[in-house]
Amino acid sequence: MFLLDEAEHWLDRGATDTPDTRLAGLTQINAFFENSTRTLLSFEIAGKRLGADVVNMHAAQSSVKKGETLIDTAMTLNAMRADVIVIRHMASGAVRLIADKVDCPVLNAGDGRHEHPTQALLDMLTIRRRRGSVAGQKVVICGDILHSRVARSDILALTALAAEVRVCAPSTLMPKGIERMFVTPFTDFDEAIEDADVVMMLRVQNERMAGGYIPSTREYRMRYGLTAERLKRAKPGALVMHPGPMNRGVEIDSEVADGPQSAITEQVAMGVAVRMACLDVLTRRARKLEGWA
Ligand code: CP
Repeated sequence: MFLLDEAEHWLDRGATDTPDTRLAGLTQINAFFENSTRTLLSFEIAGKRLGADVVNMHAAQSSVKKGETLIDTAMTLNAMRADVIVIRHMASGAVRLIADKVDCPVLNAGDGRHEHPTQALLDMLTIRRRRGSVAGQKVVICGDILHSRVARSDILALTALAAEVRVCAPSTLMPKGIERMFVTPFTDFDEAIEDADVVMMLRVQNERMAGGYIPSTREYRMRYGLTAERLKRAKPGALVMHPGPMNRGVEIDSEVADGPQSAITEQVAMGVAVRMACLDVLTRRARKLEGWA
């Protein structure tokens, strides 16, 4: 809640307000070992709006390509005296590993199948602003739950904020024991979506399927795609969300993604404010301020 309130502060600021460069003199390194559009750019914009010197390290153009290890990369970034490091990595737990090796705060921009915490924060902010509260909302998350760090982080945030969470996936894309996360699992999307306040769709992550079940596009859309017809089963005016990138015509039809119930572009806008809040709060110690960090 604290970080959501902090993010609201940045959303409320208008174009005519005096620029707030509270991170001036600090160096923010965005080290991305996996592709990204929304997360990388919004962290870069967030840092720059706060006055930080922002440097992006793309793994594809770095010495990682020459075989440098993750730990050596982390030690190198640390030696450059970064004040905050933002990491995206394809391996679950890689961010934790780096955080243990460096002297500055580290922000997780998505690690493997594990977590994507700033995505969950921006999703919570979107729901709170659109629906008034997260508590009590019936939220269905549908798609490739097994490989989704977004699903995991959203489930943790939604249940912490007292939403009622349903998850829906083909049985091969549903993690075993998901009930232990205080959610109700479904394999039938028509049942799961019934009376939902919020419908969150997920991409099928073919890049994380090591020889597992990859459904055909036609079959997947028929059983798990969010079509305009299927959306009618949810509450009237139910919010439609997707973290992006979308596979239009697979997990979501364009008619819905671009329709009046969609909050997808709003999610992106919330991302900048949430990341400004995280950067501000996590650098308070470096700026010798009292605060949550
Ligand atoms: N939602 C999200 O993480 O998108 P990107 O992969 O484009 O950053």
